[in-house]
Amino acid sequence: MTAEEKNALARFLDCAADYLKDGYNRPRGSYAFENDTKPDNTAPPPLIDAPSASLPSSSLPLAYQIDEDDDTLEAAEPEAVLSAGYALPEAATLSELAALVSNCSACPLAPTRKHTVPGEGAERPLVLVIGEGPGADEDATGRPFVGNAGQLLDKMLASIGLSRTENCYIANIVKCRPPGNRDPQPDEIAACLPFLHQQIKLLRPKTILCAGRVAAQALLNTSRGITALRGAFTEYTPAGDAEKPIPVLCTYHPSALLHSESYKRPAWEDLKLLKARLEERE
Ligand code: URA
Repeated sequence: MTAEEKNALARFLDCAADYLKDGYNRPRGSYAFENDTKPDNTAPPPLIDAPSASLPSSSLPLAYQIDEDDDTLEAAEPEAVLSAGYALPEAATLSELAALVSNCSACPLAPTRKHTVPGEGAERPLVLVIGEGPGADEDATGRPFVGNAGQLLDKMLASIGLSRTENCYIANIVKCRPPGNRDPQPDEIAACLPFLHQQIKLLRPKTILCAGRVAAQALLNTSRGITALRGAFTEYTPAGDAEKPIPVLCTYHPSALLHSESYKRPAWEDLKLLKARLEERE
């Protein structure tokens, strides 16, 4: 086992022990196996102050809560997590939000990440592209969509005159890599979604493009499949801003296009729809 692997294991065990004890992931100093290439989540500061020992577990602002009846750890339903008042401080800027993300330890993805991947791009974008979550390349660099799928995404955007440096912002549903590129779990999505909702408020994009099932279902809070969701615009209404719904288009994830040619034609139809909508709004 390398020093980095031992370190990740130690951090994971500490985190699991904390969650089991009282649902709170404590900040810690460096681990015995730490070397010079430290990941950015050594000793993650908490999002809020540590709850006192007497605080009831139901008020913990975490994705996990102790079931008072049988004292076991259970993943809370997304709505329960959010209504329990997951205490995400309001960020005034995107860089403040990125700092909150990099300090986050609210879900089980934190201990295994190398870098958080908050997102990047134009600040008042025509299109906010939302993917699923970082893969290995993104975890290694801290930047969204930089692997093969990202290169294809860049080409897809370029085909309708868009780019991540000029007029798009690229973000993900979860900001930390799910190990082995598995789908993010409902509790992980629920813990991370408040970051995305804040990003949308700060970015005020003209439109949103959801890449793939996970992004579409999480943003739109639906269990419908991507084939049913794609191909037509729907809307996302930012909390507290009912007057200003944002048009949302869902399409297949670029990774799906890399695996199967058959998704390319419908994805191209979606891109043309997006282009037409942007031209209408000009
Ligand atoms: N896939 C995603 O959904 N997001 C990324 O950032 C990279 C790959």
